Amino acid sequence: MSRFSTRTDFPRAPNALTEAHAARQARGLPLLDLTESNPTRVGLPAPDVDLLSLPGGLGYAPEPLGLASARHAVAESWLARGARVSAEHILLSASTSEAYGWLLKLLCEPEDTVLVPAPCYPLVDVLARLEGVQTRAYRLPLAHGFGLDAGAVESACDARTRAVVVVNPGNPTGHFLHEGELAALAEVCARRGLALICDEVFSEFPWDDEPDRVPTVAGRALPCLTFALGGLSKSVGLPGLKVGWTHVGGPESLRDEALARLEWVSDAYLSVNTPAQHAVPALLARAPRFQQALRERVLANRARLLAARPRGAAWDVVRAHGGWSAVLRVPTEPGEEATCLALLAAGVRVQPGYFYDFEGGAYLVLSLLAPPERFSAALQVLVDGLGRMFPAG
Ligand SMILES: Cc1ncc(COP(=O)(O)O)c(C=O)c1O
Repeated sequence: MSRFSTRTDFPRAPNALTEAHAARQARGLPLLDLTESNPTRVGLPAPDVDLLSLPGGLGYAPEPLGLASARHAVAESWLARGARVSAEHILLSASTSEAYGWLLKLLCEPEDTVLVPAPCYPLVDVLARLEGVQTRAYRLPLAHGFGLDAGAVESACDARTRAVVVVNPGNPTGHFLHEGELAALAEVCARRGLALICDEVFSEFPWDDEPDRVPTVAGRALPCLTFALGGLSKSVGLPGLKVGWTHVGGPESLRDEALARLEWVSDAYLSVNTPAQHAVPALLARAPRFQQALRERVLANRARLLAARPRGAAWDVVRAHGGWSAVLRVPTEPGEEATCLALLAAGVRVQPGYFYDFEGGAYLVLSLLAPPERFSAALQVLVDGLGRMFPAG
């Protein structure tokens, strides 16, 4: 194996759940899927924009930071959320994932570390590994509704830590960053010279009017270098278009240096496709319609889930305030994987908490995106299966 880098030596053996799922499919058995998180497959309204017929759509515009028209439209969408930002401080990438890669190149030497929240969607570990960068987890305490504890962040720092990743709201925990949490975190970052990378891909999907919530870190006078990440993948539910964005903020000299260097990084790839960039203003103008439909879908499915929980059930739905998922807390025996396997055998698919690095109990994660009939049918099998496994006390 010496011909290949250790960075790409990922474990490839399928886990027991993947194998059981494949075996079930091979036998042609029906399955109700509560893991569907692809917004293009759940019957939500797609924007009526024909990318290739837009003026300039088939041209090639090699702008490293992205087309000015697209960056202005992104700045306006931030304004709609109450954040006044300059288009000059925004750069486009093909996705949020790509933006993470660029930020890791910008900030880290090989073997440096970045801090990532746990539990969390397992994305940054892979991206960091590909850049030769290490990740260290800081725990989001359950007792605090999986909110951020700046003390836990600081304890996770080592001499090589360069940045802290925050996912606001958390995926799948649905906890928004609060003003007090941000102030404490920014103070730690400024004191230790760390950059703050705030992944805001789900921030346009709050479920309520929780006070003190931070909708975005963009446009704030924070004392540390700050990156706010988003993209079409969640904002308009079109991950296939491959357009993400990063707002760079913080002390002026750091911000400008970061932007100048990022321009070089993105120029080496020029990965954002031109037709999609031309379409960004029209797509973002239609975003409120998609976001409203998605929020209604998710809220109605969550209400169905809460209503379906029998009184005194041994499992519960974890409190959350936004996003596309729900987290269930279940009894610790027989374990998350065995529980998911039993539910799969009963005909419904959910994810085990360990995919997301949950600790301190057993958890299941499910998507709230499915259309109502599909969701209700799957929910019935889920609730019956959980009832059989964990009889109410
Ligand atoms: C929290 C979070 N950030 C980023 C991404 C990736 O987004 P993109 O499609 O823009 O790479 C995901 C994907 O689901 C995600 O859950």
